Amino acid sequence: MTDEKIVLTGIKPTGTPHIGNYIGALRPLIDMSQNHKTFMFIADLHALNSIHDAKEIKQHTYEIAALMITMGLNLENTILFRQSDINEIYQLTEFLMNVTPKGLMNRAHSYKAMIEKNTETGVDIDSGVNMGLYTYPVLMAADILLYNSDIVPVGKDQKQHVEFARDIAGYFNNIYGETFKLPEPIIGEDCGLIPGLDGRKMSKSYDNTIPLLCPSNELKKKVMRIITDSKTPEESKNPDESTIFQMYSHFASADEIAALRKRFLDGGMGYGEAKTILFEKIDSVLSEPRKRYEYLMTNPSEIDAILNQGAERARVVAARTLTKVKKKMLG
Ligand code: ADP
Ligand code: TRP
Repeated sequence: MTDEKIVLTGIKPTGTPHIGNYIGALRPLIDMSQNHKTFMFIADLHALNSIHDAKEIKQHTYEIAALMITMGLNLENTILFRQSDINEIYQLTEFLMNVTPKGLMNRAHSYKAMIEKNTETGVDIDSGVNMGLYTYPVLMAADILLYNSDIVPVGKDQKQHVEFARDIAGYFNNIYGETFKLPEPIIGEDCGLIPGLDGRKMSKSYDNTIPLLCPSNELKKKVMRIITDSKTPEESKNPDESTIFQMYSHFASADEIAALRKRFLDGGMGYGEAKTILFEKIDSVLSEPRKRYEYLMTNPSEIDAILNQGAERARVVAARTLTKVKKKMLG
């Protein structure tokens, strides 16, 4: 791994992964793992500022890990682990707190959004803001710097956090001498937003999601609930405005997509039939991984074994960095 760029990313376990998460965030990471050495962790500590139920965090951690494993993550190239399993992360976070200006945290988008909302609603500006949320970027900088990351693939919303990690590395290096590399964010190709059952962005906050690896009968029920316009079967339909078509296009081959596009435009196909085509496509693509996923979810010790192995490998790098930092800061 020495002369290769180190790629690192974290995934926050705050919900059951849905089709939007998979297409927008998880599948690109799985693709990337095929030809990059990557540190990839489930960022359970980052979930703590919003979820105060241990069972829930644990469940989502297993779901994400099992999904990544069964959907083809390359485990030879990837060190997959749980963020909280590495004790060095708590220590590096504390060390970095002392070179991080408070003003930097005040500029974080997620914190700013909270205080703007509080201002609008007339409550105390810091209402609902815990220190986990406020210092979230320091923990994230520690994640990135602990493993000497060069490249951090993230969604657009996380770009600022990676830039903060760069800033924090810079502050540290200025005071203590060259220690950390400056990481670069890379923003994945924008696949557009996957619409949910009601046509808005698929999101757990809208309760309009389709969990990627839910049982077949649940998948069918959800697909059948996708909201459509009221065109009759005979009428021509615009595929580009259809949630059904958009979802289909992320799972089908180029030929299949072209064929369905034509059927939308030609007319003669009702939305019920289009939904059946969509359901059958997703169901067939996912049927094998789903079996393995269900197996792992009922045998979580097998997921733990993979995560523990990842943690052991991650710890070697983490310990080295921490020793260096501690020596520079405390002698
Ligand atoms: P949710 O909106 O359900 O709370 P998150 O905000 O936790 O989802 O999203 C985690 C990741 O999944 C983000 O990187 C985001 O880019 C991606 N993602 C979430 N919803 C969608 C969507 N509808 N289409 C494309 N990508 C999505
Ligand atoms: N904050 C990221 C998110 O909400 C997850 C994350 C935590 C992360 N630590 C990271 C991403 C380090 C990249 C690098 O999606």
